[in-house]
Amino acid sequence: MLTTHQPVFRRFWHAVMPMSQLQGGTPQPFTLLGEALVLFLDAEGRPAALKDRCCHRTAKLSKGRCVNGALECGYHGWTYDGGGRVIRIPQYEPERPIPPDYRTPAYRCVERYGYAWVALEEPIAPIPELPEFGAPGWRTIFQFHETWATSPLRALENSFDNSHFSFVHRATFGVAAQPRPSRYEIVERRNDDGSGGFYAETVIDAANPPAFHRVSGSTEPITQRHMRNAYYRPFCRRLDIEYPSGVRHVIFNAFTPIGDGHIQLCQWLFRNDTEADCPAQLLIDFDHVITREDKDILESTDPDALVDARRRGVEYSMDSDRPGMLIRKQLMELLAAHGEAEVFGPAA
Ligand code: FES
Ligand SMILES: [Fe+2]
Repeated sequence: MLTTHQPVFRRFWHAVMPMSQLQGGTPQPFTLLGEALVLFLDAEGRPAALKDRCCHRTAKLSKGRCVNGALECGYHGWTYDGGGRVIRIPQYEPERPIPPDYRTPAYRCVERYGYAWVALEEPIAPIPELPEFGAPGWRTIFQFHETWATSPLRALENSFDNSHFSFVHRATFGVAAQPRPSRYEIVERRNDDGSGGFYAETVIDAANPPAFHRVSGSTEPITQRHMRNAYYRPFCRRLDIEYPSGVRHVIFNAFTPIGDGHIQLCQWLFRNDTEADCPAQLLIDFDHVITREDKDILESTDPDALVDARRRGVEYSMDSDRPGMLIRKQLMELLAAHGEAEVFGPAA
């Protein structure tokens, strides 16, 4: 599937960048589903997203600067409000009116969970609920915000794939001697609002060397991870890992589509322990090593992942690919509900 060729994905919220990146006062470029955007904070401190193209002579607005909650183009200084309207042309007398069609497209943009989220068109589903964010007894750690050369579907199915631990993660938590995956219990979630998804639960054995003891809250050489893994259509997932110690390690990912071959990996971590129990930096370093292992193998795959399972002979599957096949089924239903078929390129 060539993600940018499926218009329905324009109708969902996508996590784009941490608010902290905007608070420096410099406009920030971002490409979402192939659309070049510029983000900045408006006069009320809310994030705003505009097309990254000045309506005067097309300069990239991200090369401009923020002035009192407005965005000034770096070429001739035309200045835009958060709604995309030109509110100042410095070459004009101040009282001279500016034609109302002097504007650049503005997109829906909101702040949620410390990130700016953008929907390119009227969204058909809400942003997933993250009850741990800001809740008593939980801390939020912003783990990753980085570009990967892969597609959302590849990253998503990897995050539900129990068959790669013994290979990709054998240097970390994977138990090399146990390649047979544990089975997920899966319950589909169907919402009328177009979000949909499923809930998958399993228990796996996980290597627990001394370097992981503070992460797992346990000193056993092999511990268990009770995995409650949820898919949020189209491109988010939440993984709640509970260790026998009672420690919970809840990861939320937004696999934001940049183009057909790149995603923005956004990863939040919520923990029910304290900084004294396990420092945030240690948790970032721990998950960094693991995500490097996934990134390395995923960037070797073809980002144009098969979605329509009726296309035979493109990719072959095994039993443990069931969550990945269910993601495909749900994406196919979404495409069909919006009159789309899978768009894909020539076989690599
Ligand atoms: S191109 Fe932006 S003000 Fe001229
Ligand atoms: Fe992995």
